[in-house]
Amino acid sequence: MAVVETDVVVIGAGAAGLMCAAHAGARGRRVLVLDHANKAGKKILMSGGGNCNFTNLYTEPANFLSENAHFCKSALARYTQWDFIALVNKHRVPYHEKKLGQLFCDNRSIDILKMLLAECEAVGATVQLNTSVEKIECIALEASPSAEGGQVAEGGAALAAIGGDPPVESAESTNRSKAAKADKRAKAAAPAAPPNDGYLLQTSTGPVRCKSLVIATGGLSIPTMGATGFGYEVARQFGHRLLPTRAGLVPFTITDQLKELCTELSGTSVDCLVSCNGKSFRENILFTHRGLSGPAILQISSYWHPGQAVEINLLPDRSVPDWLAQQRQDRPNAELKTILGEVFTKKMAQLLCEQWFESKPIKQYTHAELESIADKLSAWQLVPAGTEGYRTAEVTLGGVDTREVSSKTMESLKSPGLYFIGEVLDVTGHLGGFNFQWAWASAYAAAQFV
Ligand code: FDA
Repeated sequence: MAVVETDVVVIGAGAAGLMCAAHAGARGRRVLVLDHANKAGKKILMSGGGNCNFTNLYTEPANFLSENAHFCKSALARYTQWDFIALVNKHRVPYHEKKLGQLFCDNRSIDILKMLLAECEAVGATVQLNTSVEKIECIALEASPSAEGGQVAEGGAALAAIGGDPPVESAESTNRSKAAKADKRAKAAAPAAPPNDGYLLQTSTGPVRCKSLVIATGGLSIPTMGATGFGYEVARQFGHRLLPTRAGLVPFTITDQLKELCTELSGTSVDCLVSCNGKSFRENILFTHRGLSGPAILQISSYWHPGQAVEINLLPDRSVPDWLAQQRQDRPNAELKTILGEVFTKKMAQLLCEQWFESKPIKQYTHAELESIADKLSAWQLVPAGTEGYRTAEVTLGGVDTREVSSKTMESLKSPGLYFIGEVLDVTGHLGGFNFQWAWASAYAAAQFV
């Protein structure tokens, strides 16, 4: 079978892959995007409850988890939320801010997917679906029929660019220069990556040869949508370290005596402050038949490790001991159930009084009892049994260790011409459009160098 020759192969036609293809194509590169799924951008389509929360107005590095906290800074600074908003405006996609800087499509998520596909089409980037990649080989320079002359010089130039100075950047470059220093340290520590003449892929539709190979296959969440560990396997093949993966932005399951409370209150949502491992989120929690969900729970799940307790303040806007003492003074004959029914739903107040506290007129509680009630309401400690796992998780934490990837180019420090972008990397955003912004920014960074 004839070998298809192209400049860039992107594996994964998701958020990062399509974005990278469009920008690399705009630089005049011949780009082929391969995906094993029958549709591009399936996660874009299901995102944001069908309305795609495509970025966040307040994106900053603090919104991301990674073992290498500086890594994301450079890319996020070079392709910002404002750049993506400009693209959305160019395509006249209507959107609105829902809350906390989260931008959602007014219509359906397909607007974002259509926009990315239109960008790819405009620059001649080809998206080929239903194609699996069976084998990837690095083409050694000496094995290449074109090992002399133009192509080698081009490869050499690319390598020089990777080690060179940052592209035109200005004042806010402190963070980026930290990241650049970290890159240099990683490069110094890593054995010199052998030069190559690109990659040869055996695919289900035949062999493909490319100069640059971009891995944009995402994480492990929602396997039914085409998620696989393929990107991690490629990373391993080329000698990359992988950080342990786990489900993030995911509901908790509860199996102990609290399960009954969760089941009874299923569908009830409460504005709370949820904390774990020194991190807190103020948002709603949602009781479910199997445990707890809602934005505050999804956020904290990314910081939680099995066996740890999560603390929930059910009344974050008040000093609960003072409030209860005031109630005791102002209306001594009011029952606790009645008082709690004024700040929670009647059903929740009733259940709390059945399962946690005994309900009686507030004057009948001792100070110690009121303190204990206040403690439970403002610092409820619970140990989740686990999470719902990749089946429902929005993201995968961990993945390709970014200490072996250039923060400027997203290129592997182990194998020249190999790039990792998007969720496959150990960079995970908070809930609220941050994960897509990372997909756009990391894709753009790589697209300038592939
Ligand atoms: P993405 O998963 O988008 O793409 C990977 C692509 O690789 C897929 O097309 C897949 O088919 C392909 N692929 C995988 N294995 C392959 C293989 N072996 N061979 C070939 N192709 C392969 N984020 C956000 O910011 N706002 C939001 O509103 C939401 N909402 C949301 C809802 C739900 C239900 C989920 C599961 C996730 C979100 N997210 C989100 C997270 C967001 O979807 C995610 O972070 C990005 O899609 C990651 O982009 P990537 O391109 O890295 O992977």
